[in-house]
Amino acid sequence: MIIGIPKEIKEDEHRVSLTPFGAEELVKSGNSVLIQSSAGVSSGFSDETYIKSGANILKTSEEIYSKSDMIVKVKEPIDHEISLIKKDQIIFTFFHFAASKELTNGMIENESIAIAYETVQKDSGELPLLIPMSEVAGRMAVQNGAKCLEENMGGKGKLLSGVPGVEPATVTILGGGVVGTNAAKLASGMGAKVNILDINPERLRYLDDIMPSNVCTLYSNRHNISDLLPKTDLLIGAVLVVGAKAPNLVTKEMLQYMDKKSVIVDVAVDQGGCVETCKPTTHKNPTYEVSGITHYCVANMPGAVPYTSTLALSNSTFKYIYKLANTRLENNLSNISELRSGLNIYKGNVTHAAVAESFSIPYSPLDTLL
Ligand SMILES: NC(=O)c1ccc[n+]([C@@H]2O[C@H](COP(=O)([O-])OP(=O)(O)OC[C@H]3O[C@@H](n4cnc5c(N)ncnc54)[C@H](O)[C@@H]3O)[C@@H](O)[C@H]2O)c1
Repeated sequence: MIIGIPKEIKEDEHRVSLTPFGAEELVKSGNSVLIQSSAGVSSGFSDETYIKSGANILKTSEEIYSKSDMIVKVKEPIDHEISLIKKDQIIFTFFHFAASKELTNGMIENESIAIAYETVQKDSGELPLLIPMSEVAGRMAVQNGAKCLEENMGGKGKLLSGVPGVEPATVTILGGGVVGTNAAKLASGMGAKVNILDINPERLRYLDDIMPSNVCTLYSNRHNISDLLPKTDLLIGAVLVVGAKAPNLVTKEMLQYMDKKSVIVDVAVDQGGCVETCKPTTHKNPTYEVSGITHYCVANMPGAVPYTSTLALSNSTFKYIYKLANTRLENNLSNISELRSGLNIYKGNVTHAAVAESFSIPYSPLDTLL
């Protein structure tokens, strides 16, 4: 199979979908890999490293799309990319179809095969290609929140860890899933006092078992959140209600309970945020202030650490890329449930019920098409 890796063109996106190590494995198993020139540079991989691993470098995305049987990307196709996709071509990437009718229609019309990272799902319900980015974002939330607490950044001038004789900062985390757990791990490791809240008692029990003694688990409700806000220096939003907008757990009025110059990092901004005053920002202009509280609400946090994010993402995507490259698509779809759940559009037919429902488009179960 010929596998094409275009350079990402979305703003602030510096990841690449395949590492040179991945390219080498694909070439060794009899495939050809085409990489767009400089696609890996921001992730620390020069064209030369890809050439050494047996890949070929092409200058333009037009050449990559026209020559490849499968395109592997990071972000959804945008602008002219949609028109470059060919009939029957496999496109494996993050799509988030429900967010764009234009993209959904474009991918139906070009009759390609769209397999979305975000719906690749294990039988246990785990979403293996979302987890690595949540791990990155959870850890970054603490790193960036700590920086925003510095005086010259508009913060209250408090060191997260404290020092001997001076108390550490207090970090409150709403949501104890992957983002929340990673944030708690980092903040507690730095010596902060950490509160982590969730509505899932099983999850709270698990966190209580594994976290160090400077992490306190609490049930998430309005009373507990209001009680914690006056003591909180850094609030991290890490809630997810699958398939829905994040609930507003901290309203605009509740900001008055927080000290001025405290910091909110709302990681859940990509689902609307769990703080009412949250609105998406970019890495170029990451913060703004409401009621004296610094808000950091970058919607694609992992994009700022492309080296780590590229490796973390491709550690998880590669086994699927390898299967797609080396086994007939229809066999993969019949035998690998993760890929079947990842399939959103198959040759002009919407095969994912939620995507079809989002735009009132007819839903075609895959079994009726194969
Ligand atoms: N901004 C970014 O760059 C970025 C990157 C990765 C993930 N995210 C987002 O971060 C959010 C969290 O992702 P995740 O992977 O940790 O999800 P997850 O499913 O692992 O965890 C979400 C947790 O929220 C809990 N929850 C639900 N309702 C709650 C409530 N009312 N109060 C407290 N907890 C509640 C759930 O029980 C669950 O434990 C998602 O919106 C995700 O899209 C953003």
